[in-house]
Amino acid sequence: MYAFDEVLDIVNSSINEIKYTHNPITLFEPITYILSLGGKRVRPALALMSYNLYREDVRRVIPVALAIEVFHNFTLLHDDLMDRADIRRGKPTVHIKWNDNTAVLSGDAMLIEAYKEIAKVDPAYLSPVIKLFSETATEICCGQQLDMEFEKRMDVTIPEYIEMIRLKTAVLLACSLKEGAIMADASEADADNLYEFGINIGLGFQLKDDLLDVYGNSENFGKKIGGDILCNKKTYLLISALENDSVKRDLISWIDRESFQESEKIEAVTAIYNKLGLRQKSENLIQDYYLKAIACLDKVNIEQERKSELYKLAENLTSRIS
Ligand code: IPE
Ligand code: IPE
Ligand code: MG
Ligand code: MG
Ligand code: MG
Repeated sequence: MYAFDEVLDIVNSSINEIKYTHNPITLFEPITYILSLGGKRVRPALALMSYNLYREDVRRVIPVALAIEVFHNFTLLHDDLMDRADIRRGKPTVHIKWNDNTAVLSGDAMLIEAYKEIAKVDPAYLSPVIKLFSETATEICCGQQLDMEFEKRMDVTIPEYIEMIRLKTAVLLACSLKEGAIMADASEADADNLYEFGINIGLGFQLKDDLLDVYGNSENFGKKIGGDILCNKKTYLLISALENDSVKRDLISWIDRESFQESEKIEAVTAIYNKLGLRQKSENLIQDYYLKAIACLDKVNIEQERKSELYKLAENLTSRIS
C-alpha cells in the first residue's frame, strides 16, 4: 500500500514525462508552463489512492490520472480568463503572460491532449472510464456557466451556490476517485460511496478556496487575495452577507459601484464579512462536509487500515492554506 507522498511522487514523475514538442511551439509552450508550475495534484492522487484500496499496480491508472490533471489545468486556463485573474500558482496566468487567444486555444489543445491520455487506458475499461470523464467534463462547463451567471445576480441562494460548486469543482474530485474504483473492479456500492466521499470533500474544497480567496496568504495560495470580491462572485460569504439586512445596502452599493480602488473594495467587503462572523460560519460548514465525507468513506467496504491515507487526505484538505 502506498503512502500519499509516494503516490504524489508517481504522479509528478509521470507528469514530468509529458512533452509537448509539436509546432507551432507557441501553442504548446503555455501548456508546459502551466503544468510545470505544480499545483497540489490532488485529483490524480485521489485516482491512484482509490485504486490502491484494492490493488497495488497503481500505474495502470496513470492514463486516467494524467488525463484528469491535464483537463483540470485546461479548466484553469479558461477559468483565469473568465475570472480576470492575473496570478496562478504564484506566477502570471497564461492570458497575461501571452494573451487571451492563447489561453483559449492552448486550453482547447489541452482538452484534446487529456483525451489522448485517457485513450491509453486498458481497452477493457475504456468505455466506462471515458463515459464518466465526459459526463464530468460537461458538468464542469455547466458549473462554470452558473458561476458566471451568478456574478450578475443578487438573489442567488445557498442551495443554488452549493449546486454550482458541486458542478464546477466537486464532481472532478468525485470522478477521480470513481475512476480508480472502476479500474480496480470495485463493487458498484464502493464506487458510489467513493464518489460521494469525493463530492463532499469537493464541496468543502471549494468552500475553503472561497475562504482562502479572502483570508488566505497570497504567497501560499498563489492567487491574488480578494479576486472573488472584485468579480462579485457569489460565494458562501457574499450570499450569507447579502441575507443580512443590516449590511445589505452597504454591500450592494459596493457591488454596483463601477469605479473604485480595488484595495478599498476588498477591505470594505472583508470588514463586512468579519463583522458578521462569516469566516467561522464558513469553517463550520466545511467541517460539516468533512464529516459527511468521512461517513461516506466509512461505508466503503475495505478494512479501515487501507483507507487511512484517504482519511488523512480528507482531513488535510480541510485545514489547507494553499
Ligand atoms: C483550483 O484547484 C480550482 C478549484 C477547483 C478551486 P486546485 O486548488 O486544486 O489548484 P492546484 O491544481 O492545486 O493549483
Ligand atoms: C474554479 O473555481 C473551478 C474551475 C476551475 C472549474 P475558482 O474560479 O474559484 O478557482 P480559482 O480560485 O480560480 O482557482
Ligand atoms: Mg478562478
Ligand atoms: Mg472561476
Ligand atoms: Mg477560487
